[in-house]
Amino acid sequence: MLERNEALKVIHERHSTRMFLETPVADEDVRAILDAANQAPSAHNQQSWRFIVLKGKYKEELADLVLSKAADFPKPSSTLLRLASRSIHSAPVIIAVANTGELIARGGDLFNIKDGSGVDFFRIMEIQSSAAAVQNLLLAATSLGLGTVWLGVLVLIKDDILKFIGEPKGEFMAVIPLGYPGQSSRGPKKKSLEAVIKYFVDE
Ligand SMILES: Cc1cc2nc3c(=O)[nH]c(=O)nc-3n(C[C@H](O)[C@H](O)[C@H](O)COP(=O)(O)O)c2cc1C
Repeated sequence: MLERNEALKVIHERHSTRMFLETPVADEDVRAILDAANQAPSAHNQQSWRFIVLKGKYKEELADLVLSKAADFPKPSSTLLRLASRSIHSAPVIIAVANTGELIARGGDLFNIKDGSGVDFFRIMEIQSSAAAVQNLLLAATSLGLGTVWLGVLVLIKDDILKFIGEPKGEFMAVIPLGYPGQSSRGPKKKSLEAVIKYFVDE
C-alpha cells in the first residue's frame, strides 16, 4: 500500500509489541501520547475516558495481580493472562484506560430517554469513544518509535483491575504496556481489502 503521508505511514508501521527494552520512556513522550488519546472523538463530546499511568512498584504490583489471577482460569485464558503479566512486567510504563460511566449517568437527560432503555446505547457509545482514544494512543506511541499492545484479556479480571487503578465504578477498557520494542516484528498480515470491503455504489 502506498504510504502517501506521515499519518498513513504510522498507521502501517503500528503493530503489537509484547516485550520491551528497559530503556525508560520520557515523561514528555507519555504526556504527548496521552494528549493524542485525549483528542479522540467521543459520543456527545463526553470524553468519558480516564487514563491511569503506572510505573515502578505500581506496575510490578499490577503484573503480580494478573499473574496471581491467571491460575483461576482454564487454558488458553490462563496462558494469555500469564503472557499479559509478562508484558506488563517488561514495559517501563503502563497506561490503563477506563470509562467513567458519565455518559451512562447523564445520557437519559442528554437524549431525553427517561425509562432507562438507553443504558445499552450509552454504554456502547462510551466503549466506542474510548476505543477511538486507545487507537490514537497506540498510533501516537508508534509515531514516537515506541511499542504498545492492547491487553484486552484483562477483561476477565476487570473488577480486580478497576479496583487496583482506583476506578471501581468505571468500566474496564484496556491496559497498554508502553516502551521501546524489545524485538523487531512486522506483526501479522492483514486480510486483503477485497476480503473486508463491500461496495454499494450506483455509477
Ligand atoms: C480489543 C483488543 C484486545 C486485545 N487483547 C490482547 C491481549 O489480551 N493480549 C495480546 O497479546 N494482544 C491483544 N490484542 C492485540 C491483538 O492480538 C493484535 O492487535 C492482533 O493480533 C493484530 O496484530 P497487530 O496489532 O500487530 O496488528 C488485542 C487487540 C485488541 C484490538
